[in-house]
Amino acid sequence: MFRFGTPNSSSALRVMMLGCGELGKEVVISLQRLGCEVIAVDRYAGAPAMQVAHRAHVIDMTNGAALKELVIREQPHLVVPEIEAIATDMLVEIEREKLAEVIPTARATQLTMNREGIRRLAAETLGLPTSAYRFADSLEEMQAAIDAIGYPCFIKPVMSSSGKGQSLVRTPEEVKPAWDYAAAGGRVNQGRVIVEGMIDFDYEITQLTVRAVGASGHVETFFCDPIGHVQVKGDYVESWQPMPMSQKAIERSREIAQAVTENLGGRGIFGVELFVKGDEVWFSEVSPRPHDTGLVTLCTQRQSEFELHARAILGLPVNTACSQPGASAVIYGGLEEKGIAFEGVAHALQVPDSDLRLFGKPESFTRRRMGVALATGQDTDDARKKAKECASRVQPVRGH
Ligand SMILES: Nc1ncnc2c1ncn2[C@@H]1O[C@H](COP(=O)(O)OP(=O)(O)OP(=O)(O)O)[C@@H](O)[C@H]1O
Ligand SMILES: [Mg+2]
Repeated sequence: MFRFGTPNSSSALRVMMLGCGELGKEVVISLQRLGCEVIAVDRYAGAPAMQVAHRAHVIDMTNGAALKELVIREQPHLVVPEIEAIATDMLVEIEREKLAEVIPTARATQLTMNREGIRRLAAETLGLPTSAYRFADSLEEMQAAIDAIGYPCFIKPVMSSSGKGQSLVRTPEEVKPAWDYAAAGGRVNQGRVIVEGMIDFDYEITQLTVRAVGASGHVETFFCDPIGHVQVKGDYVESWQPMPMSQKAIERSREIAQAVTENLGGRGIFGVELFVKGDEVWFSEVSPRPHDTGLVTLCTQRQSEFELHARAILGLPVNTACSQPGASAVIYGGLEEKGIAFEGVAHALQVPDSDLRLFGKPESFTRRRMGVALATGQDTDDARKKAKECASRVQPVRGH
């Protein structure tokens, strides 16, 4: 399907990454290993994936004209979004005009950047089980939605990620603060929120799902083992694989993941977020790209989610097998500072079967993910203990 070539020559297979965080960095490394020419794009200089790409551009990716101009100039074969905050209507145009192939599809990026798009698709078009939900454009509408759904419920800006602007509302007194917080935390389109009834789940998982060309020569669906994780304020702090599940819950998870990803189409990896209680499974949301909780696959799978993504988008075969139980634990910046340093790295790596990724982000924030500790173990409990120990030994400090 693609001809593999030589970077920086006329035979190059060019891939443009839109978004250059730690997930993009690992995808770029995988692409580099297959000899692709990688053009990294983000809104700030020195982003992690830029540091391992052939070249980088700093643009406002929500500016459609700037995005199109860059695609015309660079002529990538593939455009690979790594974040949601992109002018996705322009991705639709880029795809329609065949300027580049958008991964997985422009429509998938458009539907998933807005909670309303993906929720209506999953619940109303595909008939998948989700939490009860309503949308609201004002405090009054939101109150009416909450009265219909009941307490406790989640309030989320329709355009936001990583828990930004999101709150759990338990009492009427918490309604107004939740509205104000959502309005401040949304990306764009300020003021539209989704009210979601709380699902009283036993645990939540990420079902990594890959759409890749299989032995049949057509795109097929492949599943990774389920990833369990802990979220704090909408941000993941710990993940592990494989998450033990009942056979029924695994089957149901895969059915839901298959339905959603088949509809979104294209090739690549998807992180399908699901809530599980007993044998019952609810769809929450989906990333049409590697998922942060999937960082654990760097130590558990023969092909990490990043390598799977790279292979899938290039039309190559994939192997989603999990080879050993493992876990990941996030390392936060803990301070607001540029050019920070890390102490205790050697001590951290003395934890048996551990590994580290330090992302190289130019600026640290208290709750910014600056690195991740990985560990394998006899089982996921053992791995989680080691990963947390490894992470705790890494100390972000002032760089000067
Ligand atoms: N309806 C719900 N019922 C129960 N828990 C929920 C519900 N909605 C969200 N949560 C909890 O909050 C977490 C974050 O929610 P969600 O995934 O919608 O936010 P997000 O901002 O998209 O986060 P991220 O980008 O990190 O995935 C979930 O993983 C879950 O733990
Ligand atoms: Mg989520």
